Amino acid sequence: MERITAVDLRTFLSNNNVEHNLRRLIHQIAITCKYISSKINEANRKYAVSKNVSGEQQLELDKAADQIFIKRMECCAYVKQLASEEQDEIVSVLLPEQSNNAEYSITVDPLDGSSLIDVNLAVGSIIGIHKGELCLKNEHNLIAAMYVLYGPLTTLILSTGNGTHEFVLNPEGEFVLACENIKMKEKGNIYSIGGVKKEWTEKHKRYIEHLEDEGYKLRYSGGLVPDVNQILLKNGGLFTYPALINAKNGKLRLLFELQPLSFIIEQAGGAAIDGKNRILDIKPETLHQRSPIYIGSKHEVNLAKDYLM
Ligand code: F6P
Ligand code: MN
Repeated sequence: MERITAVDLRTFLSNNNVEHNLRRLIHQIAITCKYISSKINEANRKYAVSKNVSGEQQLELDKAADQIFIKRMECCAYVKQLASEEQDEIVSVLLPEQSNNAEYSITVDPLDGSSLIDVNLAVGSIIGIHKGELCLKNEHNLIAAMYVLYGPLTTLILSTGNGTHEFVLNPEGEFVLACENIKMKEKGNIYSIGGVKKEWTEKHKRYIEHLEDEGYKLRYSGGLVPDVNQILLKNGGLFTYPALINAKNGKLRLLFELQPLSFIIEQAGGAAIDGKNRILDIKPETLHQRSPIYIGSKHEVNLAKDYLM
């Protein structure tokens, strides 16, 4: 019987000629997320046996995940700057002796959807890897993006600009290749919408009615990472967090959430816009800038453009 050897993340990156330092950085990030995953499990186990770990303490996990990222990246010779959704300003993690190798900057949303932890729903970490320094008001310099989904399985979705790939954390603690070159369908059949309906704009309302009339199935958990992951892996469709009457930029953040996810989805053959413009063409003016988003299969995103123009 032929034995199939699983390809681990490190081997995959080197087989795909990903540049040495970038490879090592991705590996460090994967180890960091593995650690965050164990922290989530630990907190959930404590919560399960004695409810005396308060919901508030669970929410504190996003602060813990933030500190874990900062500490790990301080020890990583390849990171110049780190911007975290949990921090107001860019954290410079460059240590003097590292300066020669520090050629990347990263953005992290350390624990997206942390309010779902106490109800045992899936959460995630979202990471963007930029060449050089993080620059605002300029075209993005993302060269790779990844997210880790902490669900029944811990999975890592990665793109270094050469397709989008899925890895699964196996019982031995290795991320192994589960799906190479994910290809989304041109048109899907599920939709996932954030935001309160009574605050939708007329154009958005009409667009959603169109999808409903066509028979799209609603699938929404309230966690950005699992919701987008479902669109990516389950036959395509659309995720949106729209502009709202009282929040014209919606809720989600360009640098920490939307641009890395758009990079990943585009690399799988999908698309992402703010209603009009491609998310990856937007030059954020501020670190925490928000934007509406329509992301998923090309057909649904183009249709959104027709309705929202
Ligand atoms: O960014 C945080 C987040 O929890 C996302 O994971 C999710 O898509 C969104 O906010 C949900 O927001 P709300 O429930 O406030 O509409
Ligand atoms: Mn978030």
